[in-house]
Amino acid sequence: MSVTELENLDTIVSLAKARGFIYQSSEIYGGLGAVYDYGPLGTELKRNIRDHWWKVMTQYHDNIVGLDASIFMHPKVWEASGHVEGFNDPMIDDKQSNKRYRADMLVEEHIAKLRKDGKEEEADELQELLDTTGKREGLCKDLHKLIIENEIRAPESGAFDWTDVRQFNLMFKTQFGATSSGDDDDAVYLRPETAQGIFVNFKNVMDTARQKIPFGIAQVGKAFRNEVVARQFVFRMREFEQMEMQYFVEPGTDEENYEKWLSKRLDWHKELGIREHKLRTHPHPEDKLAHYAVSAADIQYEYPIGWQEVEGVHNRTDFDLSQHHEYSGKKLEYYDQKKQKRYTPYVIETSIGLDRAVMMVLCDAYREEEVDGDSRTVLKLNPKIAPTKIGIFPLIKKDKLQDLAHKIEHDLREDYNVLYDESGSIGKRYRRQDEAGTPFCITVDFDGVESEGEDTVTIRYRDDMTQDRVPVSRLREVIGEKMRSWKPE
Ligand code: GAP
Repeated sequence: MSVTELENLDTIVSLAKARGFIYQSSEIYGGLGAVYDYGPLGTELKRNIRDHWWKVMTQYHDNIVGLDASIFMHPKVWEASGHVEGFNDPMIDDKQSNKRYRADMLVEEHIAKLRKDGKEEEADELQELLDTTGKREGLCKDLHKLIIENEIRAPESGAFDWTDVRQFNLMFKTQFGATSSGDDDDAVYLRPETAQGIFVNFKNVMDTARQKIPFGIAQVGKAFRNEVVARQFVFRMREFEQMEMQYFVEPGTDEENYEKWLSKRLDWHKELGIREHKLRTHPHPEDKLAHYAVSAADIQYEYPIGWQEVEGVHNRTDFDLSQHHEYSGKKLEYYDQKKQKRYTPYVIETSIGLDRAVMMVLCDAYREEEVDGDSRTVLKLNPKIAPTKIGIFPLIKKDKLQDLAHKIEHDLREDYNVLYDESGSIGKRYRRQDEAGTPFCITVDFDGVESEGEDTVTIRYRDDMTQDRVPVSRLREVIGEKMRSWKPE
């Protein structure tokens, strides 16, 4: 058997659309950039990944509790968090085409081109200049100078006719209430991360859930960023979902907890069924850390677009709680009765994008296989997160077979997401389920219903396409055992 893995992101984009995992938003109107909708299979897959995360993070930890904060928050939250001031990308416009680019990315791309052309020394020099471009005020001027001095042209038009570099805030702004004046005073933002909902509720949760430090608050929800370079499918979206957990610890224990959570989170990806050689951790160098972090690392997956961040783990120190204390005037501290000590807790954050996790799972599971001159596309998803768990087919449309197939469907439906299908040849039905990632297909045939004794059916396994004949009463046991023992190939 020859096996081909995913080489190109377009293959997954097409499969996702054809099989009902992910569609472009408002497609009949020409689509909306970097916004996507999840179809029937995608909704189930996404929900299963979300549920798995929730279970591992909350149910398996008696000191982590859940929260569901609003998308809208008081505008002061975003001043305190640093997002109003600093959540920017430096942008430059090509005057000829009116296309907008991220200025630092233009320089990065130019460096990559220099390296490709063997001009390593020039590339190193420019990289050093880029790495030392001023932060905040100086950044725009520095980047503009680099673009002009290196004669970097607009990628699409080829023109060398640039505007100044300007900071572009990534938060979406809207107005609150009917009497809004349209001034910035009324502005509210669509949250760009779920984390702040956790910080501002720190005291509420601590007081009501009777938690002692260390403890965590977990949350899943939508976040919004007006990404300028928005491409690569659901990897970079303007509306996306985050699964975040903030773990509050005593200062001084923060680094050990940071290491612990980085390792635990990497294990979660492996348990999800992602192959180990496609995962790695990537610590951020000190000079590239976000303003709130003293240590940070990405968990990266090797997508067809290269190694990219799927999750971030950060040691955020007491930055957020101290900022909210300062801006709100409300103390966000913890009193340790045993040690008779009061302090502002440090925070270890784990933050994963659910959409990037869905994309990782699809990319990792995708295979094209040639078997005895026949070919198939298959998603070898972990059965625990597969959208449909079991396909149930009568071999042909005959009452006797249909009745038993419906009975099995009815019996299993309570515990599993099942699909009854009687249309097309049995081979076609298997292929359809292979592409949907359905791990088990049960076929009801005459040999099974007409033999002496208990009815039997065949169960066909997606990954190796082998089949077993099983008495109907043992179906749950066999499926349960196969689900538990599944390993990625
Ligand atoms: N609270 C910390 C925080 O938001 P981040 O690195 O900006 O940190 C965390 O985002 C995760 O959210 C990323 O690792 C990524 O998986 C996901 N994410 C961020 N921006 C995204 C976007 N535009 N589209 C899809 N996922 C995104």
